[in-house]
Amino acid sequence: MDKIRIQGGRRLEGRVWVSGSKNASLPILAAALLVDGPIILDGVPRLADVHNMLYMLSKLGLEHEWQADGSLRLEVVDDSVIEAPYHLVRTMRASFCLIGPLWARRGKAIVSYPGGCVFGHRPVDLHLKGLRGLGARLDLDGGNVHASGPVRGGDVFLGGSFGSTVLGTANILTAAVLAQGRTSIEYAAQEPEIVDLCHFLVKCGAKIEGIGSHRLEIEGVSRLTGCRHEIIADRIEAGTLLMAGIMTRGEVQVLGARPDHLGAVLDRLREAGAPLEIGEMELSEAFGMPGRERPRMIRLEEEQPGGRATGSVPRSGSAPSPSKGSLGQGNSDDLLMGYRFRHNGLPPVPDSQSEATQERVPYIKSLPWDRLDCVDAVTMPYPGFPTDLQAQFVSLMCIADGVSVVTEKIYPERFIHVAELNRLGAQIRREGPSAIIKGGQRLGGATLMASDLRASAALILAGLVAKGTTEVRRVYHLDRGYERLEQKLCSLGADMERVRDR
Ligand code: EPU
Repeated sequence: MDKIRIQGGRRLEGRVWVSGSKNASLPILAAALLVDGPIILDGVPRLADVHNMLYMLSKLGLEHEWQADGSLRLEVVDDSVIEAPYHLVRTMRASFCLIGPLWARRGKAIVSYPGGCVFGHRPVDLHLKGLRGLGARLDLDGGNVHASGPVRGGDVFLGGSFGSTVLGTANILTAAVLAQGRTSIEYAAQEPEIVDLCHFLVKCGAKIEGIGSHRLEIEGVSRLTGCRHEIIADRIEAGTLLMAGIMTRGEVQVLGARPDHLGAVLDRLREAGAPLEIGEMELSEAFGMPGRERPRMIRLEEEQPGGRATGSVPRSGSAPSPSKGSLGQGNSDDLLMGYRFRHNGLPPVPDSQSEATQERVPYIKSLPWDRLDCVDAVTMPYPGFPTDLQAQFVSLMCIADGVSVVTEKIYPERFIHVAELNRLGAQIRREGPSAIIKGGQRLGGATLMASDLRASAALILAGLVAKGTTEVRRVYHLDRGYERLEQKLCSLGADMERVRDR
């Protein structure tokens, strides 16, 4: 097991690329089961949850191959298997969104009923209600959900006590696209990850209207065929990197971060008084090279489960390596690493000026502040403040002036980070679904235990500003959903390392 050791107090500075979105990739990978012919996905992040999903899909007859340009090629080669068993599914709740595509494409599906979760009760009743609404016969047997019967389509209402459901919407949508009739999903999730799934499905031939709204109308088609699709940038990683910049009073330019996906977060940060710069730049400039240079591919060695694999990044042929101060303080490969995953599906580069170098890249940049005020935040379904940035925001509020109330309306129990942050000297009190943070505390390093993915990120952010050494143990949680976060932070000047925990 690895841990991350951080020497706090370094100001972060430089540019860093956001990887492709984990939560967009997972349902799109599951949806690949629906498709005839090859699919090419660009921007799929290489992280543990993605590897787990790919492993599970390989057992369901979906072959995958990471290609030389970093894209992922997928193709169904055997559609006879209908069961995703417990020993595969238990590692990741997102695997329950296999049931919709399996049932729709193969007529039957058996998927293990998800178990408990570290941040509270996470039922799948809405998934089951939606599947029934489309005509599924559902039976629970031996801890598995069996879905069978024709996919007819129908009217489904997917709102629950906590609002819409992201993976529930993905599950019903991916069944409805191959239904015999029409489906209407009322109270569909509007998250950018669901919009990305819709765009992928439409490229494959699905008929979906109302994309991005609370009501999706789907006309079933008999067949979907392969396409090429680029996964959206990870808004949660972008928000995490931005908060790292703010917390250290640094100037961190988060490349690829889409302000339109982070509206509620930017609103809270501005209200707190954090100065931000939002803009776009030429890809060539983002890359730190003159406009007309032709990117070439370099190869990077990368550790993967079960052996070594290579990836590649496009990189300027003749541009000097990024120097200290201009592109951050780290090694240039680290800086470009995010690029590989965000733009790894670059088209062949023409001789004159490549499409890639003409592309404009959105960014959000943190700027140094004199005073940061505590503000309240309430997590809500998109476009509200995302629960997946709640823990990181709590860390940020620990160093702001005043008192902040951060309320969880999605997962009222998702506060395991609070006790760990208090071990650093934070003053946070739990009051039901809220954390009340007395800001302005000087944090001091300590050994901390990561409990889930986003909590791990929150502890690392706190470690960046805590005096002395902070060790975050059990960072395998972090590896599930962040693509080499510590390397990206190091490239910005953080003093941190990954060490084996004995
Ligand atoms: N809910 C129900 N019944 C259901 C499904 C959900 O009551 O059948 C409740 C949940 O308990 C929760 C709320 O509805 O209170 C929203 O849950 P949702 O179904 O939207 O969550 P999810 O789809 O299982 C995804 C992300 C989570 C993220 C949530 C909320 C993926 C793989 N997971 O989960 O991401 O927190 O949406 O935005 O997309 C993470 O990346 O760290 C993570 C946990």
